[in-house]
Amino acid sequence: MESVRGRRIVVGISGGIAAYKAIEVIRRLVDSGAHVAPIMTDDAHRFIGPVTVSALSSEPVHTSLWDDASPIPHTRLGQTADLIVVAPATARVIAAYAMGFSQDLLVATLIATRAQVVICPAMHTEMWEHPSVQDNLALLRSRGVIVVDPQEGRLAGGDVGTGRLADPETILSAIDSALSGSGRDMEGLSVVVTAGGTREPIDAVRVIANRSSGKQGYAIAEQAHRRGASVTLISTVERPVVSGIEVVPVETAQQMLDAVSLLAPSSDVVVMTAAVADFRPVHAADGKIKKHNGIPEITLEATPDILASLGAAKPAGQTLVGFAAETDDVVANAQGKLQRKNLDMIVANDVSAPGVGFGHDTNAVSILLADGQQIQVPLATKHTIATAVLDSVVKSRTTPRP
Ligand code: C5P
Repeated sequence: MESVRGRRIVVGISGGIAAYKAIEVIRRLVDSGAHVAPIMTDDAHRFIGPVTVSALSSEPVHTSLWDDASPIPHTRLGQTADLIVVAPATARVIAAYAMGFSQDLLVATLIATRAQVVICPAMHTEMWEHPSVQDNLALLRSRGVIVVDPQEGRLAGGDVGTGRLADPETILSAIDSALSGSGRDMEGLSVVVTAGGTREPIDAVRVIANRSSGKQGYAIAEQAHRRGASVTLISTVERPVVSGIEVVPVETAQQMLDAVSLLAPSSDVVVMTAAVADFRPVHAADGKIKKHNGIPEITLEATPDILASLGAAKPAGQTLVGFAAETDDVVANAQGKLQRKNLDMIVANDVSAPGVGFGHDTNAVSILLADGQQIQVPLATKHTIATAVLDSVVKSRTTPRP
């Protein structure tokens, strides 16, 4: 957590049962050398005591727009923050922040800042799934706010479902990646990222698909955008994304090839995060194949290898990054692909390991570079993996080749 040393971090705590977990986040931030200024909403006081929060933070807890020593605490807190994290963030705080209702110190501070904001929602599953909450979060995401999704698990009152505050480790990892990738070291670069798994039609309703969620590709695109790059995201999945990133929706490997081929020749960096199908049906039936006609025989053919064709036509100065999802001989297999496809870098992950790869919020990877260097990134959020990948891209572009 070197990234937080000497940085001013406002930790906002709103009124949810998970408020006690904010204590651990504060403690770890302070231990890592951050200056933590805590804010509690009135309702947060019903769950944890301000004395505990003040004792563990770098300054006494702030609670009101009016009782503070400073006459305008929200502007001081907002203007001096390097980052604001809200954990837990209730549906009310999320809505007030999205709509600009600055009725309390926490929301006023969120509106009075230009710093990166990280929102960690926690609520009951019904509330989490309500369209108002999801729409407000999509709006906040589109404005560049990082949202650390809640997890599935036990909730207040013994219910089980999605809505449990992300664990402190995940929240700290999102803070770390937001602060370490906060320089504009990709200014002037044009970057293409692909995300999601392709869908190859069998008939009018069925497809051959894979488990890729697109989360890693989106994290890379968002981080490249934050670091100043001009980013196009070619994606098979629709996820909320910060405005300023151009999204090109595609479905099949062929459509992805067409979209990437158009942009790649003039791009400085191409990151092929997408899980492209290796096979597709030779013919897709026009209508729906009927069950009563018996089990169909589907003949497959190879899809075009997009990355290999990009590697074969790579313009001078372009950085080409591939991903390799493997289940065995991870590094050796990835190394082979790095060379065969003429890549500058490949990000290898063992998708059979727990918590790694498709659909998870976390990943653990080895980044292999064409010059033989290997960087290991142990289990971390996909935001942190994105930081490591883009750090390697930036470094390889600024370090002269031997
Ligand atoms: O050879 P393999 O599919 O394991 O290589 C994975 C890498 O190649 C990923 O970066 C993926 O996006 C890319 N790929 C591709 N076109 C394919 C298959 C994979 O660009 N048809």
